Amino acid sequence: MDDKTRKKIEEYAKSMRWTPKDFYWKHAFMVREFALMIQKRVGGDKDIVEVSALLHDIGKSKLLGPKHEEISAKLAKEFLEQVGFDINKIKKIVECIEYKNFKSIEARILRSADSMSLLRDKEGQNWYFKTILKNNNERILKELKKSYSEIEFDFAKKFVEENYKKLVKKYE
Ligand SMILES: [Fe+2]
Repeated sequence: MDDKTRKKIEEYAKSMRWTPKDFYWKHAFMVREFALMIQKRVGGDKDIVEVSALLHDIGKSKLLGPKHEEISAKLAKEFLEQVGFDINKIKKIVECIEYKNFKSIEARILRSADSMSLLRDKEGQNWYFKTILKNNNERILKELKKSYSEIEFDFAKKFVEENYKKLVKKYE
């Protein structure tokens, strides 16, 4: 992917606001960082990994709740077609963002990186726990455990282990 296309995709991700502050795009950019970190070790298509990370939550700007994945996938498809992105890659990016099956390495990377972000990003946690989980300890713990269990790669798990343990202790 060339720099111009990357810039366009970043700008688009930033334009799809779903939190009052800047957390929403910081989250997407952090997921990209973690996703590329995993991709470097385990392989997969770099463009698919990077673009699906940047665009995976854009649907939250329309619907902040379950089923936002479908909307994110649809918006991503439309946008990527419009900027002339590789058709075969668009198909795979859409599959990753739909978050339905995790057969491809890229979809598995996205899910792991997304979960890593929740465990590492303090600002994101504060927003998510308060706004979505209503500061309910039981729900927070459930979400933390789910996120941790969804991180598939050993080194990635290690990367968030300390944060995870601290958080569990805090909310238990
Ligand atoms: Fe996310």
